Amino acid sequence: MNTDTATLFLNPDRNLAMELVRATEAAAIRAVPFIGRGDKLAADGAAVDAMRTFLGTVNFDGVVVIGEGEKDHAPMLYNGEHVGNGRGPACDIAVDPIDGTSLTAAGRQNALSMIAVADRGSMLDASTVYYMQKIVTGAEGIGVVDIRKPIGENIRALAAAKGKPVSEMTIAVLDRPRHVGLIDEIRAAGAGTRLMLDGDVAGGINAARYETRIDMCVGTGGSPEGVVTACAIKALGGLIQAILAPVDDDQKQRGLDAGLKFDYVYDADELVRSDNTYFVATGVTDGGLVDGVRRKGPIIRTESIVLRSRSGTIRRVVADHLAEKWLD
Ligand code: FBP
Repeated sequence: MNTDTATLFLNPDRNLAMELVRATEAAAIRAVPFIGRGDKLAADGAAVDAMRTFLGTVNFDGVVVIGEGEKDHAPMLYNGEHVGNGRGPACDIAVDPIDGTSLTAAGRQNALSMIAVADRGSMLDASTVYYMQKIVTGAEGIGVVDIRKPIGENIRALAAAKGKPVSEMTIAVLDRPRHVGLIDEIRAAGAGTRLMLDGDVAGGINAARYETRIDMCVGTGGSPEGVVTACAIKALGGLIQAILAPVDDDQKQRGLDAGLKFDYVYDADELVRSDNTYFVATGVTDGGLVDGVRRKGPIIRTESIVLRSRSGTIRRVVADHLAEKWLD
């Protein structure tokens, strides 16, 4: 047992994420009427309102550093908004009331509601640059994988570190036209792909978990999702590297003005400069990480994962909510 672990064991403290999970549960439940109804803004709006209301009950002084929305003209928990009841620890918070708004609107799998929290001032504010190139693996990738290297090289190195043949490697990638070349390279290296319609936070988390078939998650996705993934990876003990990917010169200039670095590899410690991170996610629709919201007679069942870096705990929280309490 190392000193930190012993200290935590002898002096257990509050796990903020155990309270935050109520906010992702509420957002997921409120999104349910919009699953498969073709209106992603309405789904997001319902989830945002529920998340904001429940965050107001939590003892912390949160400032939204990452509010999903500007990219999609979606309803927002906006950057700079104060959340929580103002008492308790000062924190940065990243919110994604629904990661997978299009999935929700279409009635597809893998939509999640999620929150990441870390000490105040520790999360990279990459709000001026909407996309990042990312690579995420489990702990075996640390010191082995390098985002600047060709993907085939990284796959071979990770396969060797994991002691398995390349032919058994599965790489998660967002299914986007921008990834056609990347997907070809992965397959040419001899690995298989798991193409994701949306939701690269779940892809990254699954790459870092032991009990999945995914070995690595790569490609360009949202910058907010990159920082959120870093908070989860710090609790799971994996690797994340990211390079900002501005879509035009204007975005790059705004990023430079905000102090961001380009052609630069951000690691987990730069995406979130704190070892005290929390991550919670509740399934909206069924997915590889957690089940979506289910109605069972008078009960609404939610499933969530709750991660905390300081304690290294990974909890799976199944909650039954009396449906009548959720009627408007
Ligand atoms: P939203 O549902 O919040 O829009 O995000 C879904 C998502 O797939 C993210 O998981 C991912 O990082 C990003 O969109 C990718 O962006 P794009 O859909 O523009 O390629």
